[in-house]
Amino acid sequence: MAEYETIPLAGVMGWPIGHSLSPKVHGYWLARYGLAGHYVPLGVMEADFEDVLRSMPRMGFVGANVTMPHKERAFALADMRSATAMRLGAANTLVFDSGRGVIADNTDGFGFIENLHEAQPGWDAAAGPVVVLGAGGASRAVIAALMDAGVPELRLLNRTKSRAEALRDEIAPGVMVLDWAEAEGAMEGAALVVNTTSMGMAGGPEMTLTLDALGPDTIATDIVYGRGETPFLAAARGRGAATVDGFGMLLHQARPGFERWFGRAPEVDAELRAAVLA
Ligand code: ATR
Repeated sequence: MAEYETIPLAGVMGWPIGHSLSPKVHGYWLARYGLAGHYVPLGVMEADFEDVLRSMPRMGFVGANVTMPHKERAFALADMRSATAMRLGAANTLVFDSGRGVIADNTDGFGFIENLHEAQPGWDAAAGPVVVLGAGGASRAVIAALMDAGVPELRLLNRTKSRAEALRDEIAPGVMVLDWAEAEGAMEGAALVVNTTSMGMAGGPEMTLTLDALGPDTIATDIVYGRGETPFLAAARGRGAATVDGFGMLLHQARPGFERWFGRAPEVDAELRAAVLA
């Protein structure tokens, strides 16, 4: 029988999936490093997710990213889970291992911290209080990563306070939950302010917070990214704060998966950014 060279396949599973930039990120790295492999967008509806996941290893897939709305389901269906995925109850990176089955990890928090370090090399978790706005799915990974990085105080505010309290109770008991109405005061003296809400997202609700408490000693970061500066970052910059956009979080969260699937640790740099935005 002829010997076949197997070309590793990976992709991102989500619904809808057309907006995902991950195929561009991984496609750029594969070409840049001259590696054999393909990374494709996989539009998978919720009802089909398990069937598709189970079939993928037999089609040559070595792993996948998972995005909305499949992160919790992917976690639940996995055979093995990293400690980070366990803590968050959600996975964004899967490895298909012939012996161990589906291995689930969550690299969103890693991407968030790496992006901060890259954009603000002087950022030190211990520098002072951190304010996180929002308690949705995206906020959980960010908060767990910040607590692990050693922030001395984390003030969490969400329009619906009970959701913030639930997040604290589930993943980070040390977090301080404050009322949404206290947002301005909470930002006083903050070393870092993180927006994880959908305020200011294209097609999302308007950005209604005032950021008068921010100054040159604060770093502001928005995990939402768009073509231009988000209203949150524009307001923070107007106050003299240093700003970090959320685009790099997407790029950095992709690194661990690429390395596991294709065998090479990839770099995030200006050429990658330009290629993905082109
Ligand atoms: P994701 O999983 O991407 O974080 P999500 O779960 O829909 O998305 O969460 C969206 C976040 O934006 C929530 O923190 C939400 O607050 P609620 O929990 O009160 O819904 C927040 N958000 C959405 N619209 C908002 C608005 N107009 N003002 C303030 N916060 C808002």
